[in-house]
Amino acid sequence: MVAVYPGSFDPVTNGHVDIVERSARIFDRVIVAVGQHPSKSGFFPALERVRLLSESLAHLPNIECTSFTGLVVRFCREQGASVIVRGIRAISDFEAEFQMGQANRQLAPGVETVFLFPEPNEQFISSSLIKEIASHGGAFEQYVPDPVAVAMKARYAEQD
Ligand code: COA
Repeated sequence: MVAVYPGSFDPVTNGHVDIVERSARIFDRVIVAVGQHPSKSGFFPALERVRLLSESLAHLPNIECTSFTGLVVRFCREQGASVIVRGIRAISDFEAEFQMGQANRQLAPGVETVFLFPEPNEQFISSSLIKEIASHGGAFEQYVPDPVAVAMKARYAEQD
């Protein structure tokens, strides 16, 4: 069974990696796909996010990293995927996920959304939080895979 794990991944965090590792144990193939959230402006360009995902997930054999435009359900159809994986960190994620899950179900009844919980100590992490800590020179490395830490430091060094 093929699953798509869509997200902004700007950048990928240890919490995302945890969800991908869980998905990789459940599904034959997992496509981790960088999509466009309508109200988010990018920190890393999509191509760079895909590169950082590929490097951070290189230890998993049944994973593919790519990007897509347009509707996630259309991308699922193109890829022959019947499952969308999403992570839920806290009850505050539920409302938006419920809305998106219902919309995707209406758009493509054959595609199921499956929710997974990350490790408790990863549950407060978000990409924005990490960018905020990093932008103020705080220690953020423990929340992200090594390739992301390197890329973020380089990015902030450019801005100084
Ligand atoms: N660990 C750490 N952080 C996590 C996480 C986890 N396990 N799961 C979610 N998050 C965080 C992300 O870092 C992100 O943080 P941010 O807001 O600071 O960037 C936030 O939770 C949620 O983002 P994400 O999971 O990346 O999804 P999103 O809400 O940005 O949605 C798409 C992105 C691409 C999935 C969505 O916009 C999409 O499907 N777009 C295509 C159009 C479409 O089909 N829309 C749906 C039908 S209406």
